[in-house]
Amino acid sequence: MAKHTTSIKHVASPLARQTLLDGALTSPVAAKRPARLLPWLQVVKIGGRSIMDRGADAILPVVDELRKLLPEHRLLILTGAGIRARHIYSVGLDLGLPVGSLAPLAASEAGQNGHILASLLAPEGVSYIEHPTVANQLAIHLTAARAVVGSAFPPYHHHEFPTSRIPTHRADTGAFLLADALGAAGLTIVEDVDGLYDIDPKGPGGEKAQLVREASATDLAKLKGSLPFDHALLEVMANARQLEHVQVVNGLVPGRITAALRGEPVGTLIHTSVRPA
Ligand SMILES: Nc1ncnc2c1ncn2[C@@H]1O[C@H](COP(=O)(O)OP(=O)(O)O)[C@@H](O)[C@H]1O
Ligand SMILES: [Mg+2]
Repeated sequence: MAKHTTSIKHVASPLARQTLLDGALTSPVAAKRPARLLPWLQVVKIGGRSIMDRGADAILPVVDELRKLLPEHRLLILTGAGIRARHIYSVGLDLGLPVGSLAPLAASEAGQNGHILASLLAPEGVSYIEHPTVANQLAIHLTAARAVVGSAFPPYHHHEFPTSRIPTHRADTGAFLLADALGAAGLTIVEDVDGLYDIDPKGPGGEKAQLVREASATDLAKLKGSLPFDHALLEVMANARQLEHVQVVNGLVPGRITAALRGEPVGTLIHTSVRPA
């Protein structure tokens, strides 16, 4: 009888024949730190409510500062949503829209704010790019210009987790996910307060609020009370792969963004559990 030989090729892959659900099996392969795609990139997230909604008085000095930073840094400027998203949330909630329908409505305001900033920086060659371009062609755009602007909202849309009626993954979370995935040099979150306080400095009793200079995301995640950024940011920071910290700074004080990008502590530093390589 003829000897039966098989022509099936076995692909030599350490993950080919095992479940992806067992950490003990996957970690020898998957636990390594990923490559840094754009290690020279500085990501700056500009607040919707805190900066953009204030109009020219707040926006023009920030644009001026960003413009002056261009010779020194290559920037991915990401914008958040503000008052218009809050209005659309209340209209949508009143109509019974699910969270996955509300997420892109709010994200469209973050995009509008991005278009505004990009128009103001257009003389410097800066333009607004959409999510698919950020995903596929960021490097070429940053080779053509020192900075680009995008929406900080993550594109969860109908994939938004239905844990709350208001989308939980908003601009701060989106900016962090992107900065960490790109292995960027840093992420600066620009607000209208000096950083994170123990209580809202503009709320009741706010005159007694104390600025927190440094904290870990894990410790902050345990706190109740309001924050000047998405609570989900703290959850994604707990799983960071690249970024060691983010800094929250006051964009209404000229020079703070510049100092933060130079690595100076001028706001609140929030640490992930990533340690220097
Ligand atoms: N613990 C806190 N520390 C600092 N600011 C806080 C805190 N809790 C609430 N805030 C408020 O958050 C505001 C910023 O609002 P936010 O919704 O984050 O704006 P943006 O849309 O620009 O990110 C600050 O002006 C401040 O009043
Ligand atoms: Mg904020």
